[in-house]
Amino acid sequence: MTPAIRRAEQLDWTAIKELCADTGRQGSPVDEDEREAFGEHWIGPYRELRPDWTWVAVDDRKVVGYLTGCPDTLSFEKERRRVFAPRPDSREFFPLPVRLKLWTEHPAHAHMNVSSDYRGFGTGGALLKAYFAALRKAGVPSVHVICGPSAASFWERMAFRVEAVVEAAPGVVLSAMARPVEP
Ligand SMILES: CC(C)(COP(=O)(O)OP(=O)(O)OC[C@H]1O[C@@H](n2cnc3c(N)ncnc32)[C@H](O)[C@@H]1OP(=O)(O)O)[C@@H](O)C(=O)NCCC(=O)NCCS
Repeated sequence: MTPAIRRAEQLDWTAIKELCADTGRQGSPVDEDEREAFGEHWIGPYRELRPDWTWVAVDDRKVVGYLTGCPDTLSFEKERRRVFAPRPDSREFFPLPVRLKLWTEHPAHAHMNVSSDYRGFGTGGALLKAYFAALRKAGVPSVHVICGPSAASFWERMAFRVEAVVEAAPGVVLSAMARPVEP
């Protein structure tokens, strides 16, 4: 139960997309008819625009966790909009001035999902450690994440602090959280 952590390779992207669809609704699978579009929406831009900034957790050659991210969210978002013309998603619940502040003051961002069988064994923490090592090497000062209520306590445990909250729907709070790369 101790997956190996490494950078994503060309052959991993299909499995990463599958895992994204398996975990995309607050850790549970998305509806069957949404899987392909959902996976492509959340994974495609990282695969096409920043392929060196995704890490996978692999057990017996199976991808059981991934972290997608980039060190330069402002540039990434501009490219993402130009290349993919993406549909709106949860990130856009935050007003543009808040997003611009996040993208400039905490220029890196991350998304992370671990297969349900593998949660709670250190995989998420290990993926984050690999990402932070690369950010440190690249001289990136700070990272942000956008998360729903079920993941906020995990990010808090990882020393992220709340920068902004929005109520996406009655009773559904989304948090933007950030932390410096150096502790
Ligand atoms: C959130 C997630 C990525 C964490 O990965 P994980 O492999 O389960 O996390 P780890 O086992 O590395 O946990 C690291 C630490 O965080 C704690 N932790 C894990 N999940 C937690 C949670 N939901 N709330 C509070 N603490 C949590 C662990 O107890 C551990 O603490 P320790 O260092 O004191 O031992 C994973 O549970 C997951 O994919 N969840 C569903 C999808 C999701 O919410 N993704 C995040 C989207 S923003």
